Amino acid sequence: MKQLVRKVKIIGTGSYTPETVYTNKYLETIVDTSDEWIQKTLGIKERRIAAPDQATSDLAYHAGNNAIINAGLTKEDIDLIIVATATPDRLAPSTAAITQDKLHAYNSVAFDISAVCSGFLYGMSVGSSFIASGVYDNVLVIGADTFSRITDWTRRDCVFFGDGAGAAVLSSANVNEGFIAFRLYTDGRGKFNYTVPAGGSEMPCTPEVLEKRLQYFQMNGKAVYDTGTEVLPKAIFQVLNDTGLTIDDIDLMIPHQPSIGILKETARIINLPFEKVMTNMDKYANTSGATIPLILDEVHRAGKIKCGANILFAAVGSGWTYGAAIMKWSMCK
Ligand SMILES: CC(C)(COP(=O)(O)OP(=O)(O)OC[C@H]1O[C@@H](n2cnc3c(N)ncnc32)[C@H](O)[C@@H]1OP(=O)(O)O)[C@@H](O)C(=O)NCCC(=O)NCCS
Repeated sequence: MKQLVRKVKIIGTGSYTPETVYTNKYLETIVDTSDEWIQKTLGIKERRIAAPDQATSDLAYHAGNNAIINAGLTKEDIDLIIVATATPDRLAPSTAAITQDKLHAYNSVAFDISAVCSGFLYGMSVGSSFIASGVYDNVLVIGADTFSRITDWTRRDCVFFGDGAGAAVLSSANVNEGFIAFRLYTDGRGKFNYTVPAGGSEMPCTPEVLEKRLQYFQMNGKAVYDTGTEVLPKAIFQVLNDTGLTIDDIDLMIPHQPSIGILKETARIINLPFEKVMTNMDKYANTSGATIPLILDEVHRAGKIKCGANILFAAVGSGWTYGAAIMKWSMCK
């Protein structure tokens, strides 16, 4: 999709992170890792972990509710809820249906999107299409993940991820504001470079599967780095080309937060000063589908986005899934 028919903008943002903090220092006590390596290589100091009685929908509920309030709407105004998650509460029903019930937003249709770390970008694109075509007026897009539940806490790759949720309410816009273009990509040839082997139809959880710890994620870190630093610039250059903007026209980049290394290398390739690249992975690590709306809410509430700013969104995730979008910000006081 290159151009929208009815323009679409963000009218509210929200986020939620659980209270429990796992610092790098704590992880040093349970696996063979070091605070120094994690900070230098990944840019992470600590991450939040959901309480035992919190599921992904609980995080999604809080973030969604905060976004609806921030938009000045009520739950009855929401026509569609999209939850982007790779860690759904259950295989069925969708986490979106459970979140809708928790929000009491019964006027809405609700469904999940599965695109892992690109999920929120995919969700904003799908939600925008429903508004652009006139089908719905107010769409709540939530990115929520609890990767602590698919992490093997006996392995040192437990350092990468954290739990959290973020959300945005999309609504129709005037011609000179809102999303200018989206570009989404999928390349299934890279499908198992980040994967959770067990728990689906291919490999149901049996005692043998659990003994082999196949219910936890497996990641090829080098492939993620190499692919991320190749496809993020590709998507960004394409979306710039679509809009006729140059990198100098970008005021702020709100990217997925895979690792500080991937973001620095991407910024170097696209020639964007790193001060314009928003990061908060020092506090939250990689929260997968939640990273973009979590940092968007943080930056918005801190008053760091100027009226009329051109914001560049970009994400890469398992699949491979990736993409970029540009919007003109119009939530101005
Ligand atoms: C993970 C990553 C840092 C590892 O680098 P790599 O060179 O591919 O992997 P290696 O296993 O050879 O590790 C390189 C060094 O880091 C160290 N290392 C790797 N993981 C570590 C960890 N969790 N804690 C401490 N040290 C670690 C290794 O010991 C090794 O040290 P050495 O060179 O002294 O032997 C790199 O691939 C990367 O940044 N990938 C992106 C991953 C990502 O963003 N994932 C999230 C999105 S899905």
